[in-house]
Amino acid sequence: MAMKILTLQTIALILSHLPFISPINFSYPVVFNFGDSNSDTGGLAAGIAFPFGQPYGKTYFLNPAGRFCDGRLIIDFLMDSMGLPFLNPYLDSVGAPSFQKGCNFATGGSTLLPANAASMSPFSFGIQVSEFIRFKTRVLQLLAKDKRLKKSLPSESDFRQGLHMFDVVQNDLDGAFNSRSEDQVVALIPGFKQPIAACCGYGGLPLNFDNRIACGETKILNGTSMTATACNNTSEYVNWDGNHYTEAANKYVSSQILSGNYTDPPLSMNLQFLLGSDLFYNPNTM
Ligand SMILES: *[C@@H]1O[C@H](CO)[C@@H](O)[C@H](O)[C@H]1NC(C)=O
Ligand SMILES: *[C@@H]1O[C@H](CO)[C@@H](O)[C@H](O)[C@H]1NC(C)=O
Ligand SMILES: *[C@@H]1O[C@H](CO)[C@@H](O)[C@H](O)[C@H]1NC(C)=O
Ligand SMILES: *[C@@H]1O[C@H](CO)[C@@H](O)[C@H](O)[C@H]1NC(C)=O
Ligand SMILES: *[C@@H]1O[C@H](CO)[C@@H](O)[C@H](O)[C@H]1NC(C)=O
Repeated sequence: MAMKILTLQTIALILSHLPFISPINFSYPVVFNFGDSNSDTGGLAAGIAFPFGQPYGKTYFLNPAGRFCDGRLIIDFLMDSMGLPFLNPYLDSVGAPSFQKGCNFATGGSTLLPANAASMSPFSFGIQVSEFIRFKTRVLQLLAKDKRLKKSLPSESDFRQGLHMFDVVQNDLDGAFNSRSEDQVVALIPGFKQPIAACCGYGGLPLNFDNRIACGETKILNGTSMTATACNNTSEYVNWDGNHYTEAANKYVSSQILSGNYTDPPLSMNLQFLLGSDLFYNPNTM
């Protein structure tokens, strides 16, 4: 991906000569997100005190940041590319989080179907939608009482113009991979030096994954103490902890979303300059 950084003026000039392809407008005042660990920015950590320890967050936040990743998630890259701050989780009650630019209802382990006793997260998709409805009702009530709250809450029109994102396929993907052979999975994943091994795991290649020891955990197995530690270079890996993408993989997926090649209706062309920006400086070598 050798796209040069173009000036905004050049892009405007090019755009004015392109045929009109009715692109969606990628400028949104707020974002509401629903989903699972793939886009959870701290919901499960806040909601059930899910214990994230080292080395989660090591690449970007430097500490565990409520994300199932070594760094940023796809949603973080997309928010950044829209000039918006990272989304705060709906369930976060500490530190008076701002929801002015949106709210994240995604929680790790969430399912599309209602949760059951075996579910990791009680916040299945239907619950998240109910939370959103309550959120909107509460926001409108509070704004009617005190206009000063505008600086931390979305406005009524923001709810109409906001981007509503749904990212609920992670757990389905896990299941799909379980029913494929190693060769079939490798064939599906281009690029990366380590297409299937977990960066943070135990057991060594080819999978470096042992479901008895989660990323960051230490356990005694066969009388010996074993630790699932992180690899040296997370950007060579797609898989962070056996279940979730690395920041490098998230960056790659975000760049593919922003390429507009998978979007219907098409994204407006002015997004593509982001692919040449620092954020996505070289997706093909990751
Ligand atoms: C895109 O959306 C923004 C924010 O809602 C709005 O200000 C702008 O006018 C829109 N642009 C177009 C071309 O519709
Ligand atoms: C523990 O011992 C069993 C039986 O000898 C062996 O199959 C297994 O691979 C060992 N586990 C580890 C983590 O070394
Ligand atoms: C990380 O790099 C060090 C030093 O080069 C090496 O000893 C170690 O085995 C590497 N660890 C992994 C998990 O590859
Ligand atoms: C990590 O891996 C990436 C991708 O292979 C490579 O570009 C980078 O130089 C590596 N970083 C280090 C510190 O080895
Ligand atoms: C989009 O798809 C076309 C056709 O497959 C390909 O040539 C192009 O490189 C892709 N663009 C990006 C940015 O990946």
